[in-house]
Amino acid sequence: MNAYTRQCAGRQGGAVGTPPPASGLLPEATGPDGRTAEHSGLDQLGGFAAAQLGRLCDVVGIDAPRRTAHQQVLCDLLGPAAARPLASPPPSPSFVSDDHTPVEFSLTFPMGADVVLRVLAEPGCAARTLSGNARTAWAAVGRLAAQWGFRLDELTRVSDLFLPPVPHGPFTLWCALELRPGGPPGLKLYLNPGVRGADRSLETVEEAMARLGHGPAFEPVRCYLRSRFPERATLMFFALDVGPWAEPRVKVYVVHHDATAADAGDAARLVPGACPDRVADLCRRIGGDGPFSRLPLISCYSFTGADTGSPTGHSIYVPVRAYVRDDQEARDHAVRLLREYGVPSDPLDRALAALTARHLSAGVGLISYLSLVQAGRQAPRITAYFSSEAYRAFPPRDDTGPGPGPEAAADGRSATNPARSAGASADQ
Ligand code: TRP
Repeated sequence: MNAYTRQCAGRQGGAVGTPPPASGLLPEATGPDGRTAEHSGLDQLGGFAAAQLGRLCDVVGIDAPRRTAHQQVLCDLLGPAAARPLASPPPSPSFVSDDHTPVEFSLTFPMGADVVLRVLAEPGCAARTLSGNARTAWAAVGRLAAQWGFRLDELTRVSDLFLPPVPHGPFTLWCALELRPGGPPGLKLYLNPGVRGADRSLETVEEAMARLGHGPAFEPVRCYLRSRFPERATLMFFALDVGPWAEPRVKVYVVHHDATAADAGDAARLVPGACPDRVADLCRRIGGDGPFSRLPLISCYSFTGADTGSPTGHSIYVPVRAYVRDDQEARDHAVRLLREYGVPSDPLDRALAALTARHLSAGVGLISYLSLVQAGRQAPRITAYFSSEAYRAFPPRDDTGPGPGPEAAADGRSATNPARSAGASADQ
């Protein structure tokens, strides 16, 4: 446990209104100066985000000792950023979320199984340069792997591709934790395909897929990309599952620029068994036929051990925040979608209440994405992504038409699409 861990995790017992755990994981519920935990924590980034995480753990039934451990890991990942007062600007212009909070939460709703909570963080967010960001993030992953006994063989095999001497933005490496009720979290790493320059992102991912033995399975996606890159399709993430996953995946995230709902459906055709109509229907119900120009639709192709000659899973990410007036509308989309897939939606409402006390209709962006995963014979799965809003909530949109229009208030990054301009900044 380091200073940040003790500091912000120690405050959580009070912050979430639950007693400190008896396990002794958190020796200090109050600071050395006698200030109460909740008094000093919630106005700092780590304390604020860890309190949200604690309440979300309660929603999914994670017990108190484990909840505390998860909060500690989150604060560890944030490093020096955890202790930053929220009154100061964000530690860096993090691409994790629109208000630059370097944390994002998500709840996934598998059919017939319990909801699963995940948290994404940018470990290098406090660094002043992108090189420093990369060094910090890779070191954080090394520490987590050592702590949990995870091997990093795949990451090591592609490290030269994703850790160049001079990285390009908008990020280097993010970590997501899947918080299960038992055992250590599942760890997922998100790397930047454009880290050696956005113009080289396709060759970077091709090489990484070949090295990991997924060259033949990547071929259909490669062909799809080759004919559209970079005007109509770019690459956003290259992701690796690390540790004891039942079926570890390598994932490639493709951004569809100005795509229609039908185009998104077509993108799912690269995956045998994925239903294009389901994908197009989901897009259509949120943004109409399109084109989706305010924020782009994103596909994720997943690849598992056995090389089948094609990707084994497809996910569509719909940036719902750019196509609704406010979060009440986004929530209503999510609830209808969950109902249609036969999944109880009450954890969604409880999660929203765990994140913020504001009215859902008072802002937009709390629900950032809704996604649908189709993989092999598994039942389709809906996931909702949540912003922390540690720094700000965006006002409701004035105009909710699906076509091109004024910049999305929820975007918060002006009309520039960071995925397209990723190569523009070599160092922050
Ligand atoms: N904030 C970025 C975006 O909205 C990156 C990102 C965060 C993202 N979480 C995501 C992209 C989930 C796709 C899915 O694009």
